[in-house]
Amino acid sequence: MKVAFYDAKAYDREAFEKAVEGTELELVFYDFRLSEETASTASGASAVCAFVNDQLDRACLKALVGQGVKMLAMRCAGFNNLDLDSAKELGLSVVRVPAYSPHAVAEHTLALLMTLNRKVHRSYNRVREQNFSLNGLVGFDLNEKTVGILGTGKIGRVTAGIFQGFNCKVIAHDAYPNHQWADDTGVRYTTLQDLLTQSDIVSLHLPLTDDTYHILDADTIPRMKQGVYLVNTSRGKLIESEALIQALKSGHLGGVALDVYEEEEGIFFEDKSGTILQDDKLARLMTFPNVLITAHQAFLTREALAEIARVTLANVENFRDEKPPLEGTSL
Ligand code: NAI
Repeated sequence: MKVAFYDAKAYDREAFEKAVEGTELELVFYDFRLSEETASTASGASAVCAFVNDQLDRACLKALVGQGVKMLAMRCAGFNNLDLDSAKELGLSVVRVPAYSPHAVAEHTLALLMTLNRKVHRSYNRVREQNFSLNGLVGFDLNEKTVGILGTGKIGRVTAGIFQGFNCKVIAHDAYPNHQWADDTGVRYTTLQDLLTQSDIVSLHLPLTDDTYHILDADTIPRMKQGVYLVNTSRGKLIESEALIQALKSGHLGGVALDVYEEEEGIFFEDKSGTILQDDKLARLMTFPNVLITAHQAFLTREALAEIARVTLANVENFRDEKPPLEGTSL
């Protein structure tokens, strides 16, 4: 059975080529994105494997089905780029990888915060230029700081545990609080308003939904503590970029670390060096000395990639063998 991969990067290829050993699947990798225009390249494949920036609208899905594709395997957790209703109507079997490594994302959250707070990104550059001065590099102890975890699902809970290891006081907010976990760990649930006013550090671990869209905006950002550090490794659209820029310009925010950005599509994951950046908000964000941005790489560990490949190929084999998808992976 042939599986066509789209938007495939070298690291995807490496993980999937390892995972495919011992199976009878044939994998073909394309570096371009899947869309109505490129769907004809799926000819001969029974399954396609797509990622977060493929354009899986109705027209694309119809074109895939026209090529004989019967299964769509998303190699990610989120699927806001997929017209799921159309996929179902067209009879496509759709799976995803709902959880691969909460540790990968939680650890990157800490990597961003520690780098930003202790100015490691700046000292790295200075020392390479033989500038050994420490001026402007003062950070703060994490010890005894209050950390607000917004969203206590798989990733938020791991992140909370790491912060507790730094002896931080962790408070949390979630639409569906996990009281057992809170009792076991000593984390205190509170309202969104209280979390924003109490926290020295706020870390976002929410999915993007109608309720969470711009949860931090011109109304809520000013309620945060003066000098607060904000980390977003979840989804860019949780934060209204314009309001963020205004709060940075006024000096209200102490530091902002972003692994995601609301208009990241078509920019993140790509090498844009040598081109003119057209996104003025992203360009402005990159000018602040207290803003640190990575390009949606929080998931990028060997362990996470191996798990994504394992679950995806197991599901493709199950489909071929007319067995049900792995538990919790069917859409
Ligand atoms: P999860 O589904 O396990 O947890 C999400 C939590 O948010 C749940 O406890 C849920 O009750 C809560 N929640 C949902 N709506 C809410 C609302 N309106 N108000 C308060 N709480 C609400 O998800 P998981 O696996 O922990 O992922 C969290 C985020 O991380 C997702 O947005 C995901 O897309 C993102 N992510 C980012 C990656 C990256 O590479 N940067 C990689 C993987 C996930």
